This record gives sequence, structure tokens and C-alpha cells, in this order.
Amino acid sequence: PTCEEDGRGALVVVEGLDRAGKSSQCEILARRLQEMGHQVRYVRFPDRSTPIGKLIDNYLRGQSQLDDHSIHLLFSANRWEAARSIQEDIANGVSVIVDRYSYSGAVYSAAKGNSNLSLQWAWQPEVGLPRPDLCLFLSISTEEAARRGGFGVERYENDTMQKRVRELFLSLIELPHNDEICVIDAGKSVGEVAGDILEPVLECMKNVDAIGPLRKLG
Ligand code: TMP
Ligand code: MG
Repeated sequence: PTCEEDGRGALVVVEGLDRAGKSSQCEILARRLQEMGHQVRYVRFPDRSTPIGKLIDNYLRGQSQLDDHSIHLLFSANRWEAARSIQEDIANGVSVIVDRYSYSGAVYSAAKGNSNLSLQWAWQPEVGLPRPDLCLFLSISTEEAARRGGFGVERYENDTMQKRVRELFLSLIELPHNDEICVIDAGKSVGEVAGDILEPVLECMKNVDAIGPLRKLG
């Protein structure tokens, strides 16, 4: 039995620095909601399986060089190509859990030291995409992130970049129009964080019909 037979699903985004535990938490969350009888789909960006996603994957693995604007727009295009199916699922009562979204998109590009992409410029291609009903920001200090294991080999996985990304994330979540952002202390244990996440998500799923139809990012 599902609880949302006549209502729409919720769009829940999980954001944060590398090693904040986003992917593990998204998996736990999706499983728990399914066990409770909700219909759930788990999506992650970048979605490396599409033709655009393959260009992004090559870039991240250092197999190709791309202009900063160009790769930025590919990340955004990768969300736009998924937008319709997300909208359809939500309309059909399926809640969609998204691992990284527009906030990562804007913040990582603007954090690049050698580029002159402003946060404001970087946000523009996101305007009009499905707007999350809830965004969970998994907050972790750069020191704790570093304690969790060495950096990977992909582009952006270095100290300087992660510090700038953290600062920009924090400046974004303080903007007044982003009232649907919920900051989660991701420095706690996996189990504790999972509990802290579940509560606001269930609350959000209960309230989506009061919000009305899925909104668009502005
Ligand atoms: P992943 O580790 O979650 O697969 O993400 C790969 C990298 O891509 C990560 O460093 C964050 C970065 N990224 C962007 O630069 N722009 C985006 O729009 C997204 C979704 C991720
Ligand atoms: Mg990564």
C-alpha cells in the first residue's frame, strides 16, 4: 500500500561536499521509504550513462579538456535531459531522491580558481528545472572529510577546491529564497545521520500536496 495514491511525489535533493556520505545516505533513505510503502526512485547527477554524461565522465577522469563554460553547460544539460522523467514520476506519485543537483552545478563551477564564472552566471542554466521540495545539505568540515579517506583521482578532488566549494555552498544556503534547505550535521555516525534525514523527508512528503504542483527553480 502506498500513501500517495492520489497525491504527487516529493522531489528531495541531497547535496554536500565529496565524502559527506551523500550516496550512502540516499541509498538508505530510498530503501527505508520503500519499506514504508512509498514509491521511490533514486537519481544521481552527473548521470554518466547518457551521451552527455559520458562527455562529463571523460572530463572528470582527465581524459578530455573542456572550456569551463562548456563543461558547466554539459552538467546542466545532463539535468535537463532528465527533467521530464522526473516530472512524470512526481506527477505519478513517485518520490524522487536526487544525489547532487543544481547547487553542486553552480558551486563547483564557481569554485574553480582559474575560471571567472560567477555564482550568478553559473545558476542561470538551472532556472526552470524542477525545484526541489526539500534540499538536505550534508554539512561536514573539510578536516572531517579528509579524515574519511584520501582524495580520489578525479578532477575537483583536492583541498583548495573543496574549501572553496564549502564556502560557496554555505553562501548559497543562506540566500533567503532557498527556504527549503535543511542543514544536516553529516559528521555524526551513518545511523544517526540517516535518522536525522528521515524526519524532514517524511514531513516534506506529508506536505507536498499543500505546496501544490512541482515548482520550477527561479
Ligand atoms: P560525483 O562524485 O557525485 O559523481 O560527482 C562528480 C563531480 O562532479 C564532483 O566533484 C562534483 C562535480 N559536479 C559538478 O561540477 N557539477 C555538477 O552539476 C554536478 C552534478 C557535479
Ligand atoms: Mg565524487
